[in-house]
Amino acid sequence: MLKFDTSNAVPFLPENWLTSRLDALDSARVKLENGSGLGGDYTGWVHLPRDYDKEEFARIQAAAERIRKDSQALVVIGIGGSYLGARAVVELVNSPNFNLTHKNGPAIYFAGNGLSTDAMLEVIDLIKDKDWSINVISKSGTTTEPAVAFRIFKNLLEEKYGKEEARKRIYATTDAHKGALKGLADAEGYEEFVVPDAVGGRYSVLTAVGLLPIACAGVDIVELMAGAEEAMTALTAPGQDNPAWQYAAARHALYTAGKKVEILVGYEPSFRFFGEWWKQLFGETEGKEGKALFPASVEFTADLHSMGQYIQQGERLMLETVVRFEKSRGSMEIPHDPDNVDGLNFLAGKDLSFVAEQAMRGTLLAHVDGGVPNLMVTAPGRDARSVGALIYFFEYACGLSGYLLEINPFDQPGVEAYKNNMYALLGKPGYEDKKAELEARL
Ligand code: PA5
Repeated sequence: MLKFDTSNAVPFLPENWLTSRLDALDSARVKLENGSGLGGDYTGWVHLPRDYDKEEFARIQAAAERIRKDSQALVVIGIGGSYLGARAVVELVNSPNFNLTHKNGPAIYFAGNGLSTDAMLEVIDLIKDKDWSINVISKSGTTTEPAVAFRIFKNLLEEKYGKEEARKRIYATTDAHKGALKGLADAEGYEEFVVPDAVGGRYSVLTAVGLLPIACAGVDIVELMAGAEEAMTALTAPGQDNPAWQYAAARHALYTAGKKVEILVGYEPSFRFFGEWWKQLFGETEGKEGKALFPASVEFTADLHSMGQYIQQGERLMLETVVRFEKSRGSMEIPHDPDNVDGLNFLAGKDLSFVAEQAMRGTLLAHVDGGVPNLMVTAPGRDARSVGALIYFFEYACGLSGYLLEINPFDQPGVEAYKNNMYALLGKPGYEDKKAELEARL
Protein backbone atom coordinates (compact mmCIF):
# COMPACT_ATOMS: atom_id res chain seq x y z
CA MET A 1 0.00 0.00 0.00
CA LEU A 2 2.89 2.38 0.77
CA LYS A 3 5.74 2.61 -1.71
CA PHE A 4 9.30 3.43 -0.73
CA ASP A 5 11.87 4.61 -3.24
CA THR A 6 15.60 4.82 -2.59
CA SER A 7 16.67 5.40 -6.20
CA ASN A 8 17.53 9.06 -5.63
CA ALA A 9 19.69 8.23 -2.63
CA VAL A 10 21.63 5.45 -4.31
CA PRO A 11 24.33 7.76 -5.72
CA PHE A 12 25.16 8.73 -2.14
CA LEU A 13 25.06 5.23 -0.68
CA PRO A 14 27.81 2.59 -0.61
CA GLU A 15 26.99 -0.45 -2.74
CA ASN A 16 26.32 -2.68 0.27
CA TRP A 17 24.18 -0.15 2.18
CA LEU A 18 21.38 -2.68 2.61
CA THR A 19 23.07 -6.08 2.41
CA SER A 20 25.66 -5.17 5.04
CA ARG A 21 22.84 -4.31 7.47
CA LEU A 22 20.57 -7.31 6.95
CA ASP A 23 21.83 -9.17 10.01
CA ALA A 24 21.52 -6.09 12.20
CA LEU A 25 18.03 -5.43 10.83
CA ASP A 26 16.95 -8.97 11.52
CA SER A 27 18.30 -8.77 15.04
CA ALA A 28 16.40 -5.47 15.50
CA ARG A 29 13.26 -7.15 14.12
CA VAL A 30 13.54 -9.95 16.69
CA LYS A 31 14.04 -7.41 19.49
CA LEU A 32 10.90 -5.56 18.45
CA GLU A 33 8.99 -8.78 17.97
CA ASN A 34 9.63 -10.22 21.43
CA GLY A 35 10.74 -7.22 23.47
CA SER A 36 14.20 -8.66 24.07
CA GLY A 37 16.20 -5.51 23.26
CA LEU A 38 17.02 -2.38 25.25
CA GLY A 39 13.77 -0.78 26.39
CA GLY A 40 11.90 -3.94 25.38
CA ASP A 41 9.21 -3.32 28.01
CA TYR A 42 7.95 -0.54 25.74
CA THR A 43 7.36 -2.49 22.55
CA GLY A 44 3.63 -2.93 23.13
CA TRP A 45 2.94 -0.76 20.07
CA VAL A 46 4.46 -3.32 17.66
CA HIS A 47 1.36 -5.57 17.54
CA LEU A 48 -1.11 -2.97 18.75
CA PRO A 49 -2.97 -2.61 15.41
CA ARG A 50 -3.99 -6.28 15.77
CA ASP A 51 -4.05 -6.76 19.53
CA TYR A 52 -5.64 -3.52 20.71
CA ASP A 53 -8.30 -3.65 23.44
CA LYS A 54 -11.54 -4.06 21.45
CA GLU A 55 -13.78 -3.36 24.44
CA GLU A 56 -12.01 -0.06 25.09
CA PHE A 57 -12.11 0.75 21.38
CA ALA A 58 -15.92 0.45 21.46
CA ARG A 59 -16.01 2.76 24.51
CA ILE A 60 -13.86 5.27 22.61
CA GLN A 61 -16.32 5.20 19.72
CA ALA A 62 -19.27 5.62 22.09
CA ALA A 63 -17.59 8.49 23.96
CA ALA A 64 -16.74 10.20 20.67
CA GLU A 65 -20.38 9.91 19.56
CA ARG A 66 -21.52 11.43 22.84
CA ILE A 67 -19.03 14.30 22.61
CA ARG A 68 -20.00 14.93 18.97
CA LYS A 69 -23.63 15.25 20.07
CA ASP A 70 -23.31 17.26 23.28
CA SER A 71 -20.29 19.49 22.57
CA GLN A 72 -19.46 22.20 20.08
CA ALA A 73 -15.87 22.17 21.26
CA LEU A 74 -13.49 19.61 22.74
CA VAL A 75 -10.44 20.82 24.64
CA VAL A 76 -7.70 18.20 24.29
CA ILE A 77 -5.12 18.69 27.03
CA GLY A 78 -1.74 16.97 26.62
CA ILE A 79 1.86 17.51 25.52
CA GLY A 80 4.48 15.62 23.48
CA GLY A 81 3.38 12.07 22.81
CA SER A 82 0.09 12.84 24.51
CA TYR A 83 -0.69 15.55 21.94
CA LEU A 84 1.18 15.44 18.64
CA GLY A 85 -0.26 12.25 17.16
CA ALA A 86 -3.87 13.32 17.58
CA ARG A 87 -3.22 16.71 16.05
CA ALA A 88 -1.20 15.19 13.21
CA VAL A 89 -4.04 12.86 12.20
CA VAL A 90 -6.85 15.38 12.67
CA GLU A 91 -5.05 17.86 10.43
CA LEU A 92 -3.73 15.40 7.85
CA VAL A 93 -6.98 13.48 7.32
CA ASN A 94 -9.23 16.51 7.75
CA SER A 95 -7.57 19.89 7.47
CA PRO A 96 -5.35 22.36 9.31
CA ASN A 97 -8.47 24.57 9.10
CA PHE A 98 -10.57 21.84 10.70
CA ASN A 99 -12.16 24.16 13.26
CA LEU A 100 -13.40 26.42 10.47
CA THR A 101 -14.55 23.68 8.13
CA HIS A 102 -16.06 20.95 10.31
CA LYS A 103 -19.79 20.46 9.97
CA ASN A 104 -21.26 17.86 12.32
CA GLY A 105 -19.06 17.73 15.39
CA PRO A 106 -17.04 19.73 17.85
CA ALA A 107 -14.15 22.04 17.09
CA ILE A 108 -10.97 20.55 18.53
CA TYR A 109 -8.74 22.87 20.58
CA PHE A 110 -5.37 21.64 21.85
CA ALA A 111 -4.22 23.02 25.20
CA GLY A 112 -1.60 22.19 27.81
CA ASN A 113 1.10 21.74 25.17
CA GLY A 114 3.02 24.80 26.35
CA LEU A 115 2.86 27.51 28.99
CA SER A 116 1.64 30.45 26.95
CA THR A 117 -0.89 32.54 28.86
CA ASP A 118 -2.07 34.18 25.64
CA ALA A 119 -2.69 30.87 23.88
CA MET A 120 -4.72 29.64 26.83
CA LEU A 121 -6.76 32.84 27.06
CA GLU A 122 -7.52 32.54 23.36
CA VAL A 123 -8.89 29.00 23.69
CA ILE A 124 -10.95 30.08 26.70
CA ASP A 125 -12.38 32.95 24.70
CA LEU A 126 -13.20 30.68 21.74
CA ILE A 127 -15.12 28.13 23.82
CA LYS A 128 -16.79 30.32 26.45
CA ASP A 129 -20.17 30.60 24.73
CA LYS A 130 -20.21 27.00 23.51
CA ASP A 131 -21.01 23.64 25.00
CA TRP A 132 -17.69 21.93 25.54
CA SER A 133 -15.93 18.93 27.03
CA ILE A 134 -12.37 18.02 28.05
CA ASN A 135 -10.15 15.11 27.13
CA VAL A 136 -7.15 15.29 29.46
CA ILE A 137 -4.28 13.01 28.43
CA SER A 138 -1.21 12.27 30.51
CA LYS A 139 0.43 8.90 30.97
CA SER A 140 2.43 9.94 34.03
CA GLY A 141 -0.34 12.22 35.23
CA THR A 142 2.28 14.58 36.61
CA THR A 143 3.49 16.58 33.61
CA THR A 144 3.36 20.25 34.55
CA GLU A 145 1.98 21.80 31.35
CA PRO A 146 -1.13 19.61 30.98
CA ALA A 147 -1.66 19.41 34.76
CA VAL A 148 -1.79 23.22 35.05
CA ALA A 149 -4.04 23.50 31.97
CA PHE A 150 -6.37 20.83 33.33
CA ARG A 151 -6.75 22.59 36.64
CA ILE A 152 -7.73 25.79 34.80
CA PHE A 153 -10.14 24.21 32.29
CA LYS A 154 -11.68 21.92 34.92
CA ASN A 155 -12.51 24.99 37.06
CA LEU A 156 -14.07 26.71 34.06
CA LEU A 157 -16.12 23.63 33.19
CA GLU A 158 -17.36 23.31 36.78
CA GLU A 159 -18.24 27.00 36.86
CA LYS A 160 -20.26 26.59 33.66
CA TYR A 161 -22.04 23.30 34.33
CA GLY A 162 -21.68 22.63 38.07
CA LYS A 163 -19.54 19.82 39.45
CA GLU A 164 -21.94 16.97 38.65
CA GLU A 165 -22.50 17.80 35.00
CA ALA A 166 -18.83 18.80 34.51
CA ARG A 167 -17.57 15.41 35.62
CA LYS A 168 -19.64 13.81 32.82
CA ARG A 169 -17.88 16.07 30.35
CA ILE A 170 -14.35 15.14 31.42
CA TYR A 171 -12.62 12.17 29.79
CA ALA A 172 -9.26 11.16 31.26
CA THR A 173 -6.69 9.15 29.30
CA THR A 174 -3.93 7.99 31.62
CA ASP A 175 -2.06 5.09 33.19
CA ALA A 176 -4.17 2.09 34.18
CA HIS A 177 -2.84 1.93 37.72
CA LYS A 178 -0.91 4.96 38.94
CA GLY A 179 -0.30 8.70 38.81
CA ALA A 180 -1.98 11.88 39.97
CA LEU A 181 -4.43 12.02 37.06
CA LYS A 182 -5.47 8.41 37.63
CA GLY A 183 -6.13 9.23 41.30
CA LEU A 184 -8.16 12.31 40.39
CA ALA A 185 -10.14 10.50 37.69
CA ASP A 186 -10.99 7.67 40.11
CA ALA A 187 -12.00 10.09 42.83
CA GLU A 188 -14.14 12.26 40.55
CA GLY A 189 -15.64 9.43 38.49
CA TYR A 190 -14.48 10.63 35.07
CA GLU A 191 -14.73 8.19 32.19
CA GLU A 192 -11.22 6.75 31.89
CA PHE A 193 -9.16 5.45 29.00
CA VAL A 194 -5.82 3.76 29.26
CA VAL A 195 -2.32 4.46 28.00
CA PRO A 196 -1.03 0.87 27.98
CA ASP A 197 2.00 0.20 30.21
CA ALA A 198 4.01 -1.13 27.28
CA VAL A 199 3.47 1.88 25.00
CA GLY A 200 5.51 5.07 25.44
CA GLY A 201 4.12 8.51 24.62
CA ARG A 202 5.58 8.92 21.14
CA TYR A 203 4.27 5.50 20.06
CA SER A 204 0.80 6.04 21.53
CA VAL A 205 -1.22 7.65 18.73
CA LEU A 206 -3.04 4.39 17.97
CA THR A 207 -4.14 3.98 21.61
CA ALA A 208 -6.90 5.99 23.32
CA VAL A 209 -4.35 8.84 23.51
CA GLY A 210 -4.86 9.58 19.83
CA LEU A 211 -8.01 7.66 19.04
CA LEU A 212 -10.51 9.57 21.19
CA PRO A 213 -9.72 13.07 19.88
CA ILE A 214 -9.28 11.70 16.36
CA ALA A 215 -12.71 10.02 16.49
CA CYS A 216 -14.24 13.22 17.91
CA ALA A 217 -12.94 14.97 14.79
CA GLY A 218 -14.98 12.57 12.66
CA VAL A 219 -12.03 10.51 11.40
CA ASP A 220 -12.87 6.83 10.84
CA ILE A 221 -10.71 5.14 13.48
CA VAL A 222 -11.66 1.65 12.24
CA GLU A 223 -10.04 2.53 8.91
CA LEU A 224 -7.06 4.11 10.68
CA MET A 225 -6.41 0.89 12.61
CA ALA A 226 -7.03 -1.24 9.51
CA GLY A 227 -4.36 0.72 7.61
CA ALA A 228 -1.94 0.29 10.51
CA GLU A 229 -2.66 -3.43 10.70
CA GLU A 230 -2.05 -3.85 6.98
CA ALA A 231 1.29 -2.09 7.39
CA MET A 232 2.11 -4.17 10.49
CA THR A 233 1.53 -7.41 8.59
CA ALA A 234 3.77 -6.29 5.74
CA LEU A 235 6.53 -4.60 7.74
CA THR A 236 7.08 -7.10 10.55
CA ALA A 237 8.00 -9.75 7.95
CA PRO A 238 11.77 -9.93 7.36
CA GLY A 239 13.36 -9.27 3.99
CA GLN A 240 15.34 -6.92 1.78
CA ASP A 241 12.15 -5.73 0.09
CA ASN A 242 10.64 -4.57 3.35
CA PRO A 243 10.28 -0.76 2.99
CA ALA A 244 10.87 -0.18 6.71
CA TRP A 245 14.13 -2.15 6.51
CA GLN A 246 15.16 -0.12 3.49
CA TYR A 247 14.32 3.18 5.17
CA ALA A 248 16.11 2.31 8.42
CA ALA A 249 19.15 1.01 6.51
CA ALA A 250 19.35 3.96 4.11
CA ARG A 251 19.16 6.62 6.80
CA HIS A 252 21.68 4.71 8.95
CA ALA A 253 24.06 4.38 5.99
CA LEU A 254 23.73 8.09 5.18
CA TYR A 255 24.31 8.99 8.83
CA THR A 256 27.39 6.77 8.89
CA ALA A 257 28.57 8.51 5.71
CA GLY A 258 28.42 11.89 7.48
CA LYS A 259 24.91 13.25 7.05
CA LYS A 260 23.66 14.99 10.18
CA VAL A 261 20.12 16.15 9.40
CA GLU A 262 17.08 14.40 7.98
CA ILE A 263 14.42 16.70 6.61
CA LEU A 264 10.91 15.33 6.30
CA VAL A 265 9.33 17.01 3.30
CA GLY A 266 5.59 17.37 2.71
CA TYR A 267 3.79 19.14 -0.08
CA GLU A 268 0.45 19.41 1.73
CA PRO A 269 -0.21 22.11 4.34
CA SER A 270 -2.25 19.48 6.20
CA PHE A 271 0.98 17.48 6.63
CA ARG A 272 2.65 20.02 8.91
CA PHE A 273 1.72 18.42 12.22
CA PHE A 274 2.54 14.97 10.92
CA GLY A 275 6.04 16.41 10.56
CA GLU A 276 5.92 17.59 14.17
CA TRP A 277 4.85 14.10 15.29
CA TRP A 278 7.60 12.51 13.19
CA LYS A 279 10.23 14.84 14.70
CA GLN A 280 9.27 13.75 18.21
CA LEU A 281 9.22 10.11 17.17
CA PHE A 282 12.73 10.12 15.73
CA GLY A 283 14.22 12.86 17.92
CA GLU A 284 13.22 11.29 21.23
CA THR A 285 13.90 7.76 20.06
CA GLU A 286 17.38 8.31 18.66
CA GLY A 287 18.85 11.53 20.00
CA LYS A 288 21.02 10.00 22.73
CA GLU A 289 24.66 9.33 23.58
CA GLY A 290 25.75 12.13 21.23
CA LYS A 291 24.28 10.30 18.23
CA ALA A 292 21.59 10.50 15.54
CA LEU A 293 20.32 12.46 12.61
CA PHE A 294 18.63 15.71 13.67
CA PRO A 295 15.01 15.46 12.49
CA ALA A 296 13.68 18.59 10.78
CA SER A 297 10.63 19.20 8.61
CA VAL A 298 9.61 21.57 5.84
CA GLU A 299 6.54 22.31 3.78
CA PHE A 300 7.12 22.63 0.06
CA THR A 301 6.65 24.50 -2.13
CA ALA A 302 6.28 27.27 0.50
CA ASP A 303 9.63 26.57 2.16
CA LEU A 304 11.43 26.32 -1.19
CA HIS A 305 11.22 30.10 -1.02
CA SER A 306 12.96 30.16 2.35
CA MET A 307 14.76 26.98 3.41
CA GLY A 308 15.17 25.94 -0.22
CA GLN A 309 18.26 28.12 -0.56
CA TYR A 310 20.04 26.41 2.33
CA ILE A 311 19.00 22.95 1.22
CA GLN A 312 20.35 23.60 -2.27
CA GLN A 313 23.62 25.32 -1.38
CA GLY A 314 24.28 25.49 2.36
CA GLU A 315 26.36 23.02 4.39
CA ARG A 316 25.98 19.54 2.89
CA LEU A 317 24.51 18.11 6.09
CA MET A 318 21.19 16.72 5.10
CA LEU A 319 19.14 14.07 3.45
CA GLU A 320 15.50 14.48 2.53
CA THR A 321 12.61 12.07 3.05
CA VAL A 322 9.65 13.16 0.95
CA VAL A 323 6.15 11.99 1.81
CA ARG A 324 4.00 12.14 -1.27
CA PHE A 325 0.27 11.52 -1.62
CA GLU A 326 -0.79 10.00 -4.92
CA LYS A 327 -4.23 11.52 -5.15
CA SER A 328 -5.62 14.96 -4.44
CA ARG A 329 -9.20 15.05 -3.19
CA GLY A 330 -10.40 17.35 -5.94
CA SER A 331 -9.19 19.01 -9.11
CA MET A 332 -8.49 22.58 -10.07
CA GLU A 333 -8.06 23.43 -13.74
CA ILE A 334 -5.96 26.45 -14.59
CA PRO A 335 -8.10 28.78 -16.72
CA HIS A 336 -7.23 30.17 -20.15
CA ASP A 337 -6.83 33.96 -20.30
CA PRO A 338 -7.18 35.61 -23.74
CA ASP A 339 -4.82 38.45 -22.72
CA ASN A 340 -2.18 36.13 -21.26
CA VAL A 341 -0.46 39.10 -19.61
CA ASP A 342 0.96 36.77 -16.96
CA GLY A 343 2.28 34.44 -19.68
CA LEU A 344 0.66 31.41 -18.07
CA ASN A 345 -1.41 30.18 -21.01
CA PHE A 346 1.07 27.34 -21.49
CA LEU A 347 -0.52 25.90 -18.34
CA ALA A 348 -4.13 26.60 -19.34
CA GLY A 349 -6.29 23.49 -19.10
CA LYS A 350 -3.75 21.73 -16.90
CA ASP A 351 -4.65 20.64 -13.40
CA LEU A 352 -2.98 22.32 -10.42
CA SER A 353 -1.87 18.87 -9.22
CA PHE A 354 0.08 18.48 -12.49
CA VAL A 355 1.96 21.70 -11.67
CA ALA A 356 2.60 20.42 -8.13
CA GLU A 357 3.90 17.10 -9.45
CA GLN A 358 6.38 18.83 -11.78
CA ALA A 359 7.49 21.13 -8.94
CA MET A 360 8.15 18.06 -6.83
CA ARG A 361 10.05 16.21 -9.56
CA GLY A 362 12.11 19.30 -10.41
CA THR A 363 12.93 19.96 -6.77
CA LEU A 364 13.97 16.38 -6.20
CA LEU A 365 16.45 16.45 -9.08
CA ALA A 366 17.77 19.90 -8.12
CA HIS A 367 18.40 18.77 -4.56
CA VAL A 368 20.03 15.52 -5.66
CA ASP A 369 22.28 17.58 -7.97
CA GLY A 370 23.02 19.80 -4.98
CA GLY A 371 24.24 16.82 -2.94
CA VAL A 372 21.08 15.99 -0.99
CA PRO A 373 20.11 12.30 -1.05
CA ASN A 374 16.40 11.81 -1.48
CA LEU A 375 14.21 9.07 -0.06
CA MET A 376 10.54 8.95 -1.00
CA VAL A 377 7.50 7.45 0.67
CA THR A 378 4.33 7.40 -1.42
CA ALA A 379 0.91 6.93 0.18
CA PRO A 380 -2.30 6.54 -1.82
CA GLY A 381 -3.98 9.55 -0.21
CA ARG A 382 -4.74 11.42 2.99
CA ASP A 383 -7.54 9.01 3.93
CA ALA A 384 -7.59 7.37 7.37
CA ARG A 385 -6.41 3.99 6.06
CA SER A 386 -3.35 5.43 4.30
CA VAL A 387 -2.49 7.59 7.31
CA GLY A 388 -2.75 4.55 9.63
CA ALA A 389 -0.25 2.77 7.40
CA LEU A 390 2.04 5.81 7.31
CA ILE A 391 2.05 6.03 11.11
CA TYR A 392 2.99 2.39 11.46
CA PHE A 393 5.64 2.61 8.77
CA PHE A 394 7.45 5.42 10.58
CA GLU A 395 7.01 3.87 14.04
CA TYR A 396 8.36 0.51 12.95
CA ALA A 397 11.23 1.97 10.93
CA CYS A 398 12.09 4.17 13.91
CA GLY A 399 12.24 1.16 16.25
CA LEU A 400 14.53 -0.66 13.83
CA SER A 401 16.61 2.44 13.33
CA GLY A 402 17.10 2.93 17.08
CA TYR A 403 18.52 -0.56 17.40
CA LEU A 404 20.80 -0.04 14.38
CA LEU A 405 22.15 2.97 16.24
CA GLU A 406 22.68 0.82 19.35
CA ILE A 407 20.79 3.08 21.73
CA ASN A 408 17.69 2.42 23.83
CA PRO A 409 14.92 3.49 21.43
CA PHE A 410 12.27 3.66 24.13
CA ASP A 411 13.54 5.90 26.91
CA GLN A 412 13.91 9.68 27.02
CA PRO A 413 16.22 10.50 29.93
CA GLY A 414 17.18 13.86 28.41
CA VAL A 415 13.67 15.23 28.83
CA GLU A 416 14.08 15.16 32.62
CA ALA A 417 16.84 17.82 32.75
CA TYR A 418 14.60 20.78 31.96
CA LYS A 419 11.79 19.40 34.12
CA ASN A 420 14.01 19.14 37.18
CA ASN A 421 15.31 22.69 36.72
CA MET A 422 11.78 24.00 36.22
CA TYR A 423 10.47 22.18 39.31
CA ALA A 424 13.34 23.61 41.36
CA LEU A 425 12.83 27.16 40.12
CA LEU A 426 9.09 26.90 40.74
CA GLY A 427 9.75 25.89 44.35
CA LYS A 428 8.39 22.35 44.17
CA PRO A 429 8.86 20.64 47.54
CA GLY A 430 11.93 18.38 47.56
CA TYR A 431 13.93 20.56 45.14
CA GLU A 432 15.19 23.16 47.68
CA ASP A 433 18.94 22.50 47.20
CA LYS A 434 18.65 22.48 43.44
CA LYS A 435 16.72 25.77 43.56
CA ALA A 436 19.48 27.47 45.55
CA GLU A 437 22.13 26.14 43.17
CA LEU A 438 20.26 27.31 40.06
CA GLU A 439 19.33 30.69 41.48
CA ALA A 440 23.01 31.32 42.23
CA ARG A 441 23.83 30.68 38.56
CA LEU A 442 21.12 32.90 37.10
O1 PA5 B 1 7.15 10.53 24.39
C1 PA5 B 1 7.09 10.84 25.57
O2 PA5 B 1 7.21 10.00 26.46
C2 PA5 B 1 6.82 12.26 25.99
O3 PA5 B 1 6.74 13.13 24.91
C3 PA5 B 1 5.52 12.33 26.74
O4 PA5 B 1 4.48 11.89 25.93
C4 PA5 B 1 5.22 13.74 27.23
O5 PA5 B 1 6.27 14.18 28.05
C5 PA5 B 1 3.93 13.77 28.03
O6 PA5 B 1 3.99 12.87 29.10
P1 PA5 B 1 2.71 12.48 29.89
O7 PA5 B 1 1.78 11.78 28.97
O8 PA5 B 1 3.21 11.58 30.98
O9 PA5 B 1 2.10 13.75 30.43
